[in-house]
Amino acid sequence: MARRRQIYEGKAKILYEGPEPGTLIQYFKDDATAFNAQKRGTISGKGVINNRISEHIFTSLAAIGVPTHFIRRLNMREQLIRQVEIIPIEVVIRNVAAGSLSKRLGIEEGTQLPRTIIEYYYKDDALGDPMIADEHIACFGWATQEEMNDIADMAIRVNDFLSGMFAAIGIRLIDFKLEFGRVWDGDYARVILADEISPDGCRLWDIKTNQKLDKDRFRQDLGGVEEAYQEVARRLGLLQPEEESAVLDLDSHRKKRGK
Ligand code: TMP
Repeated sequence: MARRRQIYEGKAKILYEGPEPGTLIQYFKDDATAFNAQKRGTISGKGVINNRISEHIFTSLAAIGVPTHFIRRLNMREQLIRQVEIIPIEVVIRNVAAGSLSKRLGIEEGTQLPRTIIEYYYKDDALGDPMIADEHIACFGWATQEEMNDIADMAIRVNDFLSGMFAAIGIRLIDFKLEFGRVWDGDYARVILADEISPDGCRLWDIKTNQKLDKDRFRQDLGGVEEAYQEVARRLGLLQPEEESAVLDLDSHRKKRGK
């Protein structure tokens, strides 16, 4: 295949120039990082699974009217997306206390929150993605008030949809992270959902056992990381039992061939 122009390499994904103007190819790696890349590793087959999970979720969200950058999946690790101007804000939606919220405020992990919380973090690795308030967003012009209203509305809709979707397969949606981008239509900009939604950026607990089925298994060295990602895909109906080993096998073959 002809070499494509790489536009950007992140911690878990690479963006290549797309086949048409205004499109990009999003490639999902197996690389995993945590704690602002202080911890690094690989989760075998993660890229394949996240590509499938994110495709499923973005397609379902489009069907309920949430605009997204997703166009179509191209192959095991790649999807075609619309090019957006990324808004430098990570939007975290929390239903249950965990992670940095528990740590910062001393609230026991697993405590159901009386209402959903939306938090904003400034997307800047060098600064360690600091938490910010609406005031900072307005002051530094990272997004307009109208864009922030649209973002908050979409975040709530995504949370409602995902909470139901995961509950139906015995998973509790604890929290998750979203990113948004602008697409331009002449002088008019519109905000759409971008990036990915996968167990990398969600906390997903088994409803009955509270077993963690997400990247916390990697962050906290809990073991069974690959299996947890596969379990989420399997419950979503995206991976048939016989495919599970195939994902991992195919992957190890690739690595051996140095691809
Ligand atoms: P936190 O509790 O560490 O703030 O994380 C909240 C949620 O956001 C959790 O589901 C993981 C996700 N997240 C990311 O996707 N990327 C990040 O860089 C961080 C810090 C969190």
